[in-house]
Amino acid sequence: MSEANDWILLGSTVDLMKELETSGFLKEITLLEKRIVISYHEGQFGAVHARCSHMGGPLAKGKLKKGCIECPWHYWQFGHRSGEAMHGAHEPLASSGGRLSTYPLKVEDGLLYIDAKNETERIKPNYNPMHPVAREPKRESGPIRVLGLSTTAMDKDHPRYSTSEDLLKSALQKAETDLGVQTQFLALSELNFRSCEGFYSKSEKACTWPCSITKMDPNDEMVKVYEALVHWADVVLVGSPIRWGSASSLYYKMAERLNAVQNQITVRDRVLIKDKVAAFILTGGQDNIQAVAGQMLMFFGELGFISPPFPFVAHSLGWSAEDMEKNTEKVRTSERLHSQSYELVQRAVELSRKTLGI
Ligand code: FES
Repeated sequence: MSEANDWILLGSTVDLMKELETSGFLKEITLLEKRIVISYHEGQFGAVHARCSHMGGPLAKGKLKKGCIECPWHYWQFGHRSGEAMHGAHEPLASSGGRLSTYPLKVEDGLLYIDAKNETERIKPNYNPMHPVAREPKRESGPIRVLGLSTTAMDKDHPRYSTSEDLLKSALQKAETDLGVQTQFLALSELNFRSCEGFYSKSEKACTWPCSITKMDPNDEMVKVYEALVHWADVVLVGSPIRWGSASSLYYKMAERLNAVQNQITVRDRVLIKDKVAAFILTGGQDNIQAVAGQMLMFFGELGFISPPFPFVAHSLGWSAEDMEKNTEKVRTSERLHSQSYELVQRAVELSRKTLGI
């Protein structure tokens, strides 16, 4: 590249078009220490600032769609020549997505020049008030609050008996009457929430708190889990069936979405879950209880939870038994399993009381 006045030669338009064709018509360059995306669409080159107005996503790694550059992180779109944020993707997070700086371009004798000194001024996005779940976690005064979180997959219209859910509900009920705690029951099967879509895999910074999906999708009901875990509960009792030696599919669907909570520790040294207790109720046809409990203990520990001594109650029929009808009856009528589940809540509440000093 050579300089002529403020114009810097980028190359021949023919060569640039050929080059851009191989990279989705977007290319990042650095001039005068400024990162710029050069683009080409329907006969026109564009030059805009290369970092997204939202969180600095690398626009040159995005896609050019109908003359707009779509950020690869959360899909905000900007006119490839105007730098204007297009309506849509920034909502409901921001009422306007602002405007990226743009750089003058000129074509002379088949050569493209850029003036990297005289960019237009960037207009910042106009953000809406924060999502309520983004508020700083602070324990509200009151009795110990116990959340029962059932991860059993279930058809809402045709609910069936679930062994882990039964133990969970009966333990919560007894805890409310005998321990004077507040309880809340949440069944993942009743919530509509999307699977984690891998924002962390694009960049650790693209995985945000609140979760990028929660911010973009007002119908995302994972927010109920975030509210309960991060803001409401002192004790969380997680129930799961064991399926093929693992926790339920809904448990993993939730766990992946909780990356948004854990990632705050990694990226911002911000611990959202403090002084909270987790314990587990696991039931299954076959075995692998210890591996499932071990995975859950590790994961909830990584989120910031602590656990009481003897942190889970479990039941399985064993490898050679397939009489599931009898199993459901066995659990339903088992005083031992129900009292063990209640004792688990007792231990968890006791630890919570000691931890919180109440
Ligand atoms: S960083 Fe570009 S849309 Fe979020």
